[in-house]
Parts: sequence; C-alpha cells; structure tokens
Amino acid sequence: MKKIPENIRHEIEKLVKDLNYHCYRYYVLDSPVISDEEYDLGYRRLKELEERYGCIPPDSPTQRVGAPPLEKFEKVKHTEPMLSLDNAFSYDEVKEFEHRIKRFLKSEEEISYTVEPKYDGLAIELTYKKGLLNRASTRGDGYEGEDVTLNIKTIKAVPLKIEGVEVPEEIDIRGEIYMDIDEFEALNREREQKGEPAFANPRNAAAGAVRQLDSSVTAARKLKLACYGMGAANGVKFKSQWEFVEWLKTVRFPVPSIIKLVTGAEEIIGVIKEIEEKRKDFPFEADGAVIKVNEFDLQQKLGTKTREPRWAIAYKFPAHQGITRINEIVASVGRTGAITPVALLEPIRIGGVTVSRSTLHNWDEIERKDIRVGDTVVVERAGDVIPHIITVIKDKRTGREKQFPPPAKCPVCGALVEKEEGGVAFRCIGLNCTAQVQERIRHYASRAAMDIEGLGEKNVELLYQKGLVRHFVDIYRLKKEDLFELPRFAEKSAQNLIDAIERSKKTTLARFLYSLGILHVGQYAAKLLAKNFKDIEELYHVKPERIIEIKQMGEKIADSISRFFNDPENLAALKTLKDEGLEISNPDFEGAKQERRPFDGLTFVITGTMPMPRREVEELIESMGGHASGSVSKSTDYLVLGEAPGSKFKKAQSLGIKTISYEELLKMAEEGA
Ligand code: IVH
Repeated sequence: MKKIPENIRHEIEKLVKDLNYHCYRYYVLDSPVISDEEYDLGYRRLKELEERYGCIPPDSPTQRVGAPPLEKFEKVKHTEPMLSLDNAFSYDEVKEFEHRIKRFLKSEEEISYTVEPKYDGLAIELTYKKGLLNRASTRGDGYEGEDVTLNIKTIKAVPLKIEGVEVPEEIDIRGEIYMDIDEFEALNREREQKGEPAFANPRNAAAGAVRQLDSSVTAARKLKLACYGMGAANGVKFKSQWEFVEWLKTVRFPVPSIIKLVTGAEEIIGVIKEIEEKRKDFPFEADGAVIKVNEFDLQQKLGTKTREPRWAIAYKFPAHQGITRINEIVASVGRTGAITPVALLEPIRIGGVTVSRSTLHNWDEIERKDIRVGDTVVVERAGDVIPHIITVIKDKRTGREKQFPPPAKCPVCGALVEKEEGGVAFRCIGLNCTAQVQERIRHYASRAAMDIEGLGEKNVELLYQKGLVRHFVDIYRLKKEDLFELPRFAEKSAQNLIDAIERSKKTTLARFLYSLGILHVGQYAAKLLAKNFKDIEELYHVKPERIIEIKQMGEKIADSISRFFNDPENLAALKTLKDEGLEISNPDFEGAKQERRPFDGLTFVITGTMPMPRREVEELIESMGGHASGSVSKSTDYLVLGEAPGSKFKKAQSLGIKTISYEELLKMAEEGA
C-alpha cells in the first residue's frame, strides 16, 4: 500500500467496517438500520478515497463487482469431499435412519440431531484464509469443482471477511446458493419480454447465475446464501453442528431460516412437520428437511458410505412438479357455459398421483405462457390443488407445435361463443347446451356440494339422455324402478343411489349455496354468504347492495347472486326442493355472534426496525385475528413500515399495497380496521 495520511486510512477502514455491517443488516438479517441512500453515500465516498489513494482493503464492498469476464473456470479440488445426502421419502424411513444410528453406535441413550430446511439451490464451498474469503467453488463431482470466486463475491450475503475475535487460520464453510421465488418469477417475466427462454425453477436460475463467465450477470441476479456445513478447518474446533451454526451466526453468516436441536425420532418428525407447514410462507423453495447427528465425534464414528455420510439424511417433501408433454388441448364447457381449454398430458406421476390433464384456465393464459399442442411443459400439483402448467420449456420445441385458438362455436351444442365483457372467459350462449345442463347437475351432486354418491359424470349423462333428470330438482323424483331398468344399474346399485339421495337431503346452507352453481360463487363465497344470511329465504329477492356490504364481496359476484335470487324460475326450483324435504341447517351463521376481531382476514408484512421486538408486533397482529407474513405479495393488505425499511417496501409500493406506521397499526387495533 502507498503511504497515505493516517486519518484517510482510518476513514477508509471505518467505511469498510460500517458498510459491511450495514450489508449484513440488510442481506443477512433483513433488518437494515440505515436507508439505501445513506449506504450509497458511504459507498461512493469509499470508492473515491480508494481510487484517490490507491488503498483498497481486501474486504472492501467495492471489491464485490467490476472484474472482467473470464475465459473459463479453473478447476478446484476440495480438501474434504463435498458429499451428497441419502434420501428418506416417508416418516418411517426417517425412523429407520434414527434406529440405524443408534444400532451403529450401540447407544442406549437418545441421540441429538439438528433439523433444518433443505434449500433447493446449488452447493458452494467458501474457503477463508486468515479470515478473508480466498476462494469459492462449486460442488462439481464432489471432489473437484469450479472456481466461481468472482461470481460469489457479488452476492451480498457472502461475507468477504470473517468478523470475530478468534478467526480460524483456514476454514471451508459450505452452504447453498439459492434464489427467492419472487426474484425467480421477476427474472422469468423479464426474460420472456426479451424473448429469452424462461428457467424451469429457481434452482436452475440460481445455478445459471453462478456459472456465468461474466460476474456482472451474476451480480444482477440477486442470489442468496444459507450456510449449513463445514469442510476442512485449521485452528478451530467445534463440538457439534449446533455449536458450529451458533458460531456462524456470531460471525455474520446467513444460516437456514429454521434450525432445531432435538432428540429421538419423534421430535425429528415433529420439526419436519413444522417445516412442511411453514414452507408455503418461505420466500424460497425448500424441497425437504435435512437431519444431522449433532455431535461431531459421533459423526466421526458413524463415518461415510461411498458418497453419503451415515450421520445425515434428507427427508424429501412429496414432489409437486414434473415435466411432460401436451398431447392435445380440448375445449371443455362448464356449468355456466364458460369454455375452458384443458391440456391432455402424457401421463406423469407427481407426488404419488398420476396427472394426465391440466386446466389452462383461459386463452389469455395460453397466450401469456405461449402454450402449444406438442409442447414440453413443467406441471405443478400442490396439495389438493388442480394441476397447472408453470412454464413451457421452449428449448424442446421442434417447430411442429400447434397453437390452439378459442373456438367460434360451442364444441358441444354448436351455439355461438362470446367473450365475456371485460373478462377473459369465452362462453357458450346456448341456454340449453347439454354440456352446461349436465355439468350443473353433476356439480350439484358432487362431493363438496350435495355429496350424492353414485351421481358422477357417467350416470348424470345416462339419466339426462334417458330424460329422467333434466334439472337437479328431478333428482329427488327418481324412483328405484326407473333406475333398475337402466343398463348401468342393478337392484343394489339402484337402491344405493336412492339411499344416497335421501341422505343428502340433510345439508348446510353453505353446501347448498355452492351446489346451486351460481356464477362466481365457489365454496369460499358460499361460506361467506352462509355466515351472513340466516337461511335461504333471507336471500330471496336480495339486492346487490346488500351483498356488497359483506367484506370481500365485489360488484360482479353481488350482481350474479342478486340476479339468481330474483329469477322466478330459480325461486320456483328452490321452493320445489324444500317441498321435496330438503333440510338446510346453518352452523356458519355469525349474525348473532359478536366475536369479530379487528384484523380478521387481514395479512400484514413488517419491514424495517420496529420500536419493539418484531416477534411482539407479530403476536399483536395475530392476537387481533390477523396474519403476519414474511414476504410481500398481492394478498398482503398492509405493510407495517419501520425505520430504514428493506426491499419489501419497494415491492409493496410497486404492488400498490397500503403502508402504515407502527403507531397506525396500534390505532387500527384499538379502533378496529
Ligand atoms: S448438508 C454431508 N444441509 O442438498 C451433508 N445440505 O442432496 C452435506 N442442501 O449437496 C449437505 N440444504 O447442496 C445440507 N440444510 C442443508 C441443505 C443441503 C440443501 C443440498 C446440498 C447437498 C444436497 C444433497
């Protein structure tokens, strides 16, 4: 270093120290204490001093960017191999793992384990020498990876220096580089606009960003890091995984968002369940949970198999994505006449279920995702939700794929098709379209509606064709003798259907309202109505204004409900149903209860520093009936803004989400939202 005035050297050192601290607050703790502008001001001052005096500390934040692109990556041998993990696909397999360990160690005592989310990204090794980041390498084949130091330095959560009193001579710290789901989606939108192929999942996007010869591309991709392991080390000793992670935290490394120390299989499974439950609120993709024997000397005793340690296992969550091909697209006509494009897929097993169809929702969606017959696509099935297509893998196109335009005529009855005003749906306008009528009956009898077992698609079609059921009211007039004559029925099955119809007569208002198939009224809206109306008669001749009074009900749905209950034919059908002996109870009705809390149904996100611990603010929100979420999305109702807010603030602004201060939150809690 050149000789420079002492006070300048001091200023540079202090700026580096402060800026690194604020970087840590922002990118690791997600809790900044200064504004972006203040950070930028400091950064510019540092850059200027460094250039003027030619004094650049190795851990200066200015050293994260600006390296010229590489020709190729150099190979790096890992001092200790980077192992992979054995998988468990059920809780029983987790129990077997735990048993194996006890047997191997011949241990009578319970053994302690750490349990944490499995990040779906790519593994990285960070080598620190005398506390400074010396090299970052990919896992490669486990023994030899690639030198991606310049790229990894651009990731702000990666410490350039180990901050601490006793810094190890040399240490390899391992973790996962990943991309948040929001970031991944934004990136894909941007790529689509530019006509570049979209990434299939956040892991591919993160891996693509790390394996860039030009580090400025990596820098633009907003990658994150979670550290979970140690390779070779010199000059430190940790007793356990837990102790190691605690140390990582004190020296400012990001660690998994949840880590629990437990004993025995039951507790392990408890934490796995907790992670699985919380996973939907994680801003990142977690594909499982990793369980590790906590004590390092026990890990040592257990040793490794060929490629995996005996002391750890990954519990994999049931998969919810798969890749397959669209063989055909068909237009399906629903009970309201809405025509939905449905993709018929090459059957594929996802999370233990075979998926062969996927709704494409509407033609706007087809256009937006540019979905064509013959395309290779990523399909997702989350929980009980209907499978849907996430993205088209455009690289797999052959040029023979075909577009699927909306039909001009109803594929079932041939009536004209119209586009809904202001909406995205195409509708068959044929009033007597057999597809619509049959769909209404099938919907009425379906499990979540009146739950009449034995009245599925096939039987509805048959009863309709024979002229026995032309409206759901006719269901109650069916006689065993009529059924018995039909090809699909025998004595017993006919009796079963009659019994099922009889049983279904006792129902709730929420179910019944859903069964009616009123345009826009799904299960959720039906329940809302049941909460607000004592019985069905109260809805007769209802005005739209009365429905709009209900929070969460909009104009469109209010119009549709009002129209339904003012139609003489519908009212006559409802009366007939009552005469047929329908008994409708309403356990959901809330009119009489006074127990509404001020934040019922509202979602809050907190950003920046609060005057009290964040956990307490979250507890306050939850005690008032609200939900405190970790990330901003369209469903966020309020962003609670503290001092020096982070990126959540920008996101909330771009989504037009209402922002309130902590004081305003308290006021709302007192006065009711
Ligand atoms: S520990 C020997 N912990 O999963 C144990 N790995 O399938 C080394 N991964 O290569 C790994 N999250 O890339 C560990 N919390 C976590 C993890 C994790 C993700 C990845 C890692 C590893 C792969 C093995």
